Amino acid sequence: SMNVPSLHSIYKDYFPIGAAVNSTTLHSDKDLLAKHFNSLTAENEMKFENLQPKENEFTFDKADEMLNFASDNNMKFRGHTLVWHNQTPEWVFTENDGSTVTRENLLNRMENHISTVMGRYKGRIYSWDVVNEAISDESSEFLRKSNWLEIIGEDFISKAFEMAHKTDPAAALFYNDYNESNPEKREKIYRLVKSLVEREVPIHGVGLQAHWNVSQPSIDHIREAIERYASLGMQIQITEMDVSAFDWDDRRTDLTKPTEKMAEMQTRRFEEFFQLFREYKEIITSVTFWGISDSYTWLNDFPVKGRKNWPFVLDEKGEPKESFWKIIDFK
Ligand code: G3I
Repeated sequence: SMNVPSLHSIYKDYFPIGAAVNSTTLHSDKDLLAKHFNSLTAENEMKFENLQPKENEFTFDKADEMLNFASDNNMKFRGHTLVWHNQTPEWVFTENDGSTVTRENLLNRMENHISTVMGRYKGRIYSWDVVNEAISDESSEFLRKSNWLEIIGEDFISKAFEMAHKTDPAAALFYNDYNESNPEKREKIYRLVKSLVEREVPIHGVGLQAHWNVSQPSIDHIREAIERYASLGMQIQITEMDVSAFDWDDRRTDLTKPTEKMAEMQTRRFEEFFQLFREYKEIITSVTFWGISDSYTWLNDFPVKGRKNWPFVLDEKGEPKESFWKIIDFK
């Protein structure tokens, strides 16, 4: 409605405010997008399986449509994502005769994918999640077991960044991960990024996915993560923010809306998170929500299928929630 201010305008002296879109919400929520957001990310449409479902058969229609919407509306665009263990088709890791691809061929496929995709969008996508979620969540493990790691070896990460930089030297290149504020995982991410920086691998930032909830992680842990990554000279982008209305262990499926307590906690959390982001405005160069409004979120199916979540600052009708008013109340 008319007297609701534009979120990204309120944040113009801080950082762009982004939303993840998909081919449906790009249309159904176009007015909300144009009003509140000045940065876009594709929720799925720029992942490997969508851009190159078969070898050398690239499908750019949906991605192009998003890019065009962004340029028509003066929005920035973050690319997500080039090298990931998930949503990557089987052919990538397989030779024509069905055997596992050789290291050399996999590196060639990686290079072909990165140079084709980044090359197409050179100058239009200013920041890329080059490698996504390569660190393990297991205490005993450093890098996550994946086809990329097993076939290429640990240097699949540095190779990806080098290929990306070669394709678009002006793009800001990110390592992106979740549980990024958990001290144990944080130290592993730190160790990875430090080793890249020491070897002069072109990396410019760390993406904090920020899939958070009403009680975790603590503000202190987020602050420590920001400080730690920034100490390596990295810029920080908040890349996939949502604040689940449920605690991780809360598996209730019978709620038709958040309880008052859940809603209050969520409001308070959003207030604290954005206060922290503003404090680090010299380091944080973008804040993106992993969706637009409570009408759609991937969390409706995670970790419990078919349960609603309400993880954003705009409600199911696209109207501001209490949290919206709190995060713009700082002038
Ligand atoms: O497109 C198919 C459709 O044809 C099919 O009928 C349907 C049946 O399940 O599935 C559809 O694909 C789904 C796809 O989203 C598009 O909606 C997949 O099953 C589903 O697994 C996929 O989930 C995505 C998930 O990444 C996959 O890992 C979520 O939308 C997306 O929000 C989520 O995003 C990730 C980030 O990329 C990385 N960080 C974590 C984040 C949340 O998991």
